[in-house]
Amino acid sequence: MSAEPTNLDSWRELPAAQQPEWPDTSALERVVSELQGLPPLVFAGECDDLKVRLAAVARGEAFVLQGGDCAETFAGATADNVRDKLKTLLQMAIVLTYAGRVPVVKIGRVAGQFAKPRSKPTEVRGGVELPAYRGDMVNGFDFTPESREPDPARLLRAYHSSAVTLNLARAFTKGGYADLRQVHAWNQDFVAESPAGRRYEQLAREIDQALAFMHACRADPEEFHTVEFYSSHEALILDYDRALTRVDSRTGLPYDVSAHMVWIGERTRQLDGAHVEFFSRIRNPIGVKLGPTTSPEDALALIDKLNPANEPGRLTFIARMGASRVRDALPTLVEKVQASGAQVAWICDPMHGNTFEAPSGHKTRRLDDVLDEVAGFFEVHRALGTHPGGIHIEFTGDDVTECVGGGHAIVEEDLALRYETACDPRLNRGQSLDLAFRVAELYRSN
Ligand code: PEP
Ligand code: CO
Repeated sequence: MSAEPTNLDSWRELPAAQQPEWPDTSALERVVSELQGLPPLVFAGECDDLKVRLAAVARGEAFVLQGGDCAETFAGATADNVRDKLKTLLQMAIVLTYAGRVPVVKIGRVAGQFAKPRSKPTEVRGGVELPAYRGDMVNGFDFTPESREPDPARLLRAYHSSAVTLNLARAFTKGGYADLRQVHAWNQDFVAESPAGRRYEQLAREIDQALAFMHACRADPEEFHTVEFYSSHEALILDYDRALTRVDSRTGLPYDVSAHMVWIGERTRQLDGAHVEFFSRIRNPIGVKLGPTTSPEDALALIDKLNPANEPGRLTFIARMGASRVRDALPTLVEKVQASGAQVAWICDPMHGNTFEAPSGHKTRRLDDVLDEVAGFFEVHRALGTHPGGIHIEFTGDDVTECVGGGHAIVEEDLALRYETACDPRLNRGQSLDLAFRVAELYRSN
């Protein structure tokens, strides 16, 4: 089967928000041409598999767990870090599958989440103004003029760092670590002593018993031994994602092979903007973040542009309304989209609408607000008879103190203890498990 070649550069004619000002465009061109010659990080067929999974979500038969760092860093691409993030995701997924009784589609904000949109182009500290940090793919976190200068060589490092991370993630999820018989092993560290960890241990014991029963019945499906895991990132820096777009030899269709799923952020979803145009040309499953100012007309126009054939699994809306807005802002959107007959999966990002600055100056979020937004998301869908299809979160496998609340009752004064994020505050391991248990309860009572 072959298709008409599509113009993958049509976005270049349109305004592209949030792009770096590269000081040396010939260096950028050299990097882009090198990226174009590098192997794909994922295969188009895998992207299609994820699309099939997301189609099930849109039909109400599965639930998405999407999460990871707000901003990955090159320094953070270590074996321990990747393992601990996966461990947290696996624990959350098990809670949702077992306690929520729903198949979980596992998608990491990993192996490519290196670029950040910023609300201000510059940052001022002590009277000094420098370009804002835009993620390791663009510039450095250190507050010096050299570090903050965008450097296209970072696009290549982002590719290699993604490759290393994805390789490890594939090894962990296919090579025995994700085996269900490991449910206890994922809990053997600091988290085991938290209230959520103890609750998890109880659940893991029940799973053990169920496994022993299945074993006695001679049932031993492959799903017990490996996990299907997908990568995703915000495709913000269009030169990067364009350079990693390849035409699939099976179908003749283009895929952004830097990740299985890519999404458009709240700040770059302009209908006549470059990001929406670029996304309309690739065939991956895609997401679009929708904030509280989204009108139903915007949502319907995004559907027309991004999924004109109404292909199930192609388009996921990631609602990030804020706990105080979700119950008002979401219903009309969901209702109008539903009435249009469009098949989309709805998932809830309970993080980005709930950020505030603590007196210490740390950007933070309250776990209670996160839980409340998720509860509001479920209420809205329940009232409309639609499917609350998943959550999209920022978390880490570490014991950080970036969000307040949770089993260890982190308070605002604790934030400085272990505040390590390169961008937004993440849930720590215990808070992530707290959230998973809450979501499982909400799902069961759906
Ligand atoms: C993010 O996901 O880190 C982000 C910047 O989100 P949003 O586009 O929803 O603000
Ligand atoms: Co973020």
